[in-house]
Amino acid sequence: MVNILFVDDDQSILNSMERLLFDVEEDWDFQFAVSGKEALELFHETPFDVVVSDMRMPEMNGAELLREIKDKYPKTIRFILSGYSDMKLILETVQTAEQFLAKPIEPDVLISTIKGAIMSNSIIANEELIEKVSRFEVLPAVPKIYSRLCGIMESPDVTIDEISEVIETDVIVTAKILKLVNSAFFGLRRTIEKVSDAITYLGFDVVKALVLSTELFNGEEFEARNKRIIEKINLESFERAKVASEFVVLTGGNDKKKKETYLIGLLCDVGKIVFVENEYDKYEDVMAKSKKEGITCCEAEKDIFGISHCELSAYLLSKWGFSSAVISNILLHHEIDNIEKEELSSAGNILISNMLLQEKKGNWYMEDTVDNIIKRKVNPKYHKAIRDLKESI
Ligand SMILES: [Fe+2]
Repeated sequence: MVNILFVDDDQSILNSMERLLFDVEEDWDFQFAVSGKEALELFHETPFDVVVSDMRMPEMNGAELLREIKDKYPKTIRFILSGYSDMKLILETVQTAEQFLAKPIEPDVLISTIKGAIMSNSIIANEELIEKVSRFEVLPAVPKIYSRLCGIMESPDVTIDEISEVIETDVIVTAKILKLVNSAFFGLRRTIEKVSDAITYLGFDVVKALVLSTELFNGEEFEARNKRIIEKINLESFERAKVASEFVVLTGGNDKKKKETYLIGLLCDVGKIVFVENEYDKYEDVMAKSKKEGITCCEAEKDIFGISHCELSAYLLSKWGFSSAVISNILLHHEIDNIEKEELSSAGNILISNMLLQEKKGNWYMEDTVDNIIKRKVNPKYHKAIRDLKESI
């Protein structure tokens, strides 16, 4: 049984919600609250799996309520229900709400969005782990591209392509923008997986407000040691995305696959960033263990956290409404058996690119060499493209 709480100060909206959901076949139980205070009282009795809250409410607004729920009941999946005119307020909840729903909402959109978010819990089988990772702050703020973006955004002639080019060099900003645009808030029937499309949908002003919002760039609070390693992960993600998408071109892949691979390559280590931000000391142990024992970072993460960054990245992206194609590739991006396929998937492209990059940087700690693994596992039709790729990096 999944229990869901709706919060709205307008009783007539709650009534119509109750009517809309009357014959939902899912194993769902609904409750309704007319204020943040009442919602918290109900939570006190039994925590809910999902909360859908209105944004504008007297006394405690939706952003404040979700912040409190996030602190006290991190496992609860949080949605904000709001009108388009509240965009400024919406931006304040980018860290606290998992997704945004537009008012008025179609019942099928509401149901499928909630279903999709609940599914994310199946990526992590263990209840205790869900509880643990839900406590992690969603994502840190990285001021790295802030000044570059401010600079280009000041120009009246700046184009969408110029802005997306800068944004696509940063894992965190890309994840946040795509998370926002893929919310049911925009009523899109397809997933947007290109930053330039996101800018077109959200509009220039919204992206600018999002980029400049303090939610995204509270740089002062950023610890120097975290900053160094997060920027390193960010840079590696950018390099991997670039190399993996070049690899797609070398193997004759089309533009769609190239862009999909770029996005997955950029976002697949988002879970690593969340580990570092929230458990820095333990993450140092992960890196040391992987090096000392010659095991992959995923194996070391599983030993230390009980979960790998592949699972954590997939879990977060699935909660944020990314497509199942993106999620499954992210889950598999270190799965060595996945490169044995007749046709390489985006995850396979990324893994091979990653191995080549790690080896080049002297960060390859496995006993078997990259060349041997490729010779043994990868379909020979890809061998020439891999040699060419290796030469180009
Ligand atoms: Fe990774």
